[in-house]
Amino acid sequence: MDRILHLDITDSTNEVLKKLAKDGAREGQVVIADEQLAGKGRRGRKFESPKGKGIYFSYLLRPKKMTPELSTLTARTAVAIQRAIYKACGIQTGIKWVNDLVLHQKKVCGILTEMCMEAGEIRYVIIGIGINVNEEEKDFPEELRKIATSFSIEMGKTFSREKLIGEMVKELDQMSSGFLTQKETYLEEYRKFCITTGKEVCVISGESKRRAYALCVNEDYSLEVEYEDGNRESLNAGEVSVRGIEGYI
Ligand code: BTN
Repeated sequence: MDRILHLDITDSTNEVLKKLAKDGAREGQVVIADEQLAGKGRRGRKFESPKGKGIYFSYLLRPKKMTPELSTLTARTAVAIQRAIYKACGIQTGIKWVNDLVLHQKKVCGILTEMCMEAGEIRYVIIGIGINVNEEEKDFPEELRKIATSFSIEMGKTFSREKLIGEMVKELDQMSSGFLTQKETYLEEYRKFCITTGKEVCVISGESKRRAYALCVNEDYSLEVEYEDGNRESLNAGEVSVRGIEGYI
């Protein structure tokens, strides 16, 4: 099996990699597709994956055991991908907590991490990354145009997806090999580029929406917020919309 499996078309690269992982694929196995018919986003959403425009990429990790650090994986991936984008395309994105990358206040990259446990043991983790690279406005459905964009739309030129894929593989290899030793570097970079802190946010939990102020990102990448009544909370997951960023409610 090639280390990088490049498919023309598939339903979801995460699903393909899951099958390979079950058949024994090694850590670092990558699946890429030029088009996805059922690209998955978080919270059961669809990830738009038009042919030959974006990057639809999944990476396999095989952690030896369940550690608290594993919960920081997606946030650290955001740092790794941000670095790759900067190296390959010269574009500095921001990180919207927890793990969306944004450019000019709109989303350009999403990350979906899926973990498989069996009998209390961790079997594998799949990190799925979708990046809007060369999409034109018409490639996004109407309802997404206000909140999502691509490098091409924002910068007025096209970018090499191959070059970016190469940098992504390098950065993810580096992230996984330094997972237990390079905690500080990733956290520092995450905090530096996080666009959520220091802003008014709306914390969304089911039907409830609460205004708050985002104070900082804690060591475990939770978001420290202060509500209007002065109460504070460390958010571990969930949805937060940011004032000034498209999609704020
Ligand atoms: C999100 O923004 O909610 C996460 C989007 C993740 C999309 C990527 S594209 C490659 C991989 N395969 C999938 O089906 N989803 C992820």
